[in-house]
Amino acid sequence: MITKENVEVFKTIETPFYFYDVELLKQTLDIYKFQIDKYGYNAHYAMKANANDRILEIIKSYGLGADCVSGNEVKLAVKSGFAPEKIVYAGVGKSDKEIKAALNAGIFSFNCESIPEIKVINDFAGQLGKKAKISLRINPDIDAHTHKYISTGRKEDKFGISPWMFNDVADILIECHNLEFLGLHFHVGSQITDLSVFELTCRRVEELQKWFIERGMNVRNINLGGGLGVDYNEPNEHPIAQFEEYFSVINKNLIVRPGQKIHFEPGRAIVAQCGHLISRVLYVKVGQKKKFAILDAGMNDLIRPALYQAHHDIENLTSDGRKMRYDVVGPVCESSDRWGNNIMLNKAERGDIVALHTAGAYGQVMAMKYNQRDLAKAYYSDQM
Ligand code: LLP
Repeated sequence: MITKENVEVFKTIETPFYFYDVELLKQTLDIYKFQIDKYGYNAHYAMKANANDRILEIIKSYGLGADCVSGNEVKLAVKSGFAPEKIVYAGVGKSDKEIKAALNAGIFSFNCESIPEIKVINDFAGQLGKKAKISLRINPDIDAHTHKYISTGRKEDKFGISPWMFNDVADILIECHNLEFLGLHFHVGSQITDLSVFELTCRRVEELQKWFIERGMNVRNINLGGGLGVDYNEPNEHPIAQFEEYFSVINKNLIVRPGQKIHFEPGRAIVAQCGHLISRVLYVKVGQKKKFAILDAGMNDLIRPALYQAHHDIENLTSDGRKMRYDVVGPVCESSDRWGNNIMLNKAERGDIVALHTAGAYGQVMAMKYNQRDLAKAYYSDQM
């Protein structure tokens, strides 16, 4: 929550900047941890969602592992103190350098996405005298009913190994002596709010894992990835994701074999709501039919609206004037640099401080310097 005291401090800081509500992050993690412990599940935080030092430090203190998608993420996870034996590493395009670095770091699992990748990991493991632990990322052909750019589990998506490749994969694994097969990995998409998608995923997991078990392969681990969505429309009403309902759906629908371990890779649901992009109103431009509120935060600071047509709730923190309609836009020289059309906002004036909510996940970490703009800094509620 952004307090009145916070807003007083915001007035004194150069905008735009990210503000993280550390209390909310901790509350979210308390609830998340309670739920996974209840069922004996394991979690690896998807650090692609937010890799700020402080955020990583807090998440690590809750005992979560890390889910990485690049060599540099693996490096950062290790540097930040995540135990290598809790690091998983996915990605369709792992480079030679990245594979070798992850082998040397001794990570828990390479989540492999293709047959050629499996062979390359086997070769490098042999050269380094190591045994690489691998899981197979499976493409279960499920439509996650989310934005097409963040849908990853349909057969036309680039991710994972499809069932028609299973015979070849099983043959390759027999030949690869430097690999240890750990189990199966699934991640069907992100910002999934329809929990029936996870129900369906559990059913597919059962169908697919049977194939491997029937061939005598020991599926010791099932990793269900991330994907649980958050409420971008009413963040103040729903600051914490539906963890209880989510895990109850998984628990009811996933058939777990004796000794099998279940893993998750939450990203967005852990960090989205604790982050806000704080901006100033630079100008209010009055057109013939509409008013533009022009902010000093742009798509380079938070690209989600421009890239995925995502909605971020906008609040004028310093005005209690009558609500009016605005097209809220950023300063970047692109028409897609737009926070929302016809947004109801307390009457805006130059200098007002505005919050773009639910910006903790895939916000700062995707920021760029387009137009040679400065990268927004981060401030934390417990250090203000
Ligand atoms: N595991 C894997 C293999 C993933 O690819 C992802 C996200 C996650 C876990 C974490 O998913 P989450 O719990 O955060 O949904 N930039 C986009 C989201 C991209 C998600 C990429 N993969 C956005 O801003 O919506």
